[in-house]
Amino acid sequence: MTVLPHVHDTGSGPALVFLHAFPLDASQWDHQVAAFSDRYRCLRPDAFGCGESPAPPPSLSLSAIADGVLTALDRLGVSEFALVGLSMGGYTAFPLLQHAAARVRALVLSNTRPGADSDQARADRLAMADRVRRDGLEVIVESMAAKLLAPRSLAEFHISDPVRGRIRRCTPEGVAACQEAMASRPDSTPLLASMSIPTLVVAGSEDVVTPIAEAEAMVSAIPSARMEVIEGAGHLSNLERWDLFNAALKSFLDVAYPAP
Ligand code: MLT
Repeated sequence: MTVLPHVHDTGSGPALVFLHAFPLDASQWDHQVAAFSDRYRCLRPDAFGCGESPAPPPSLSLSAIADGVLTALDRLGVSEFALVGLSMGGYTAFPLLQHAAARVRALVLSNTRPGADSDQARADRLAMADRVRRDGLEVIVESMAAKLLAPRSLAEFHISDPVRGRIRRCTPEGVAACQEAMASRPDSTPLLASMSIPTLVVAGSEDVVTPIAEAEAMVSAIPSARMEVIEGAGHLSNLERWDLFNAALKSFLDVAYPAP
């Protein structure tokens, strides 16, 4: 039987599917659930081995993760949805679009990129996978928090401690499997020119993982895209500057889902 992710499901209305970053879980979207679940059904899958999802199946790929999300949505009776993917969630959005573009009414690609890894980045991911399997998650908590968050967010414990907590709550196998899946992802850049879904590209002004230049390149390659820069945010723009992120998401969704 196919292993499916756990999907947190809050609110009612048009479906919004949120795909979280690495190495976190669906609680990354708590600020968006608070703001949008009065008008939208907010669906948030946890990565395998993280949050409430089961352990990852062997040889996990982003394409298999996308299929698992689509099957889980089918079981929840969700056919059409807006898709919001941040970083790893954005990487997963690309195979999901290849498998089911007709189901996606609007798309947000946040702090992410379409390209595959360089050889060095791939080797670094596989080294981290080995390390967490051998030594556990604590060895990556501080370095990942410092990489994901802008310095100001890192110094704000109400922002950075929940990020540390989310990393610690993942399992080593879940983190290793996500790294292996990201390391083997193909280049999705060739898809961009044919994308016609209304798309919002979001960048953090202080994101060192996916700098603004990558978002600018992506927005110029997608005919139906526009861009928002979240000032003061690092890589986790939706939880570092949730106020600005939510305002950008609201104005985008207001066009895709006009009030009756
Ligand atoms: C993420 O936030 O999902 C990761 O930092 C992405 C990556 O490692 O490329």
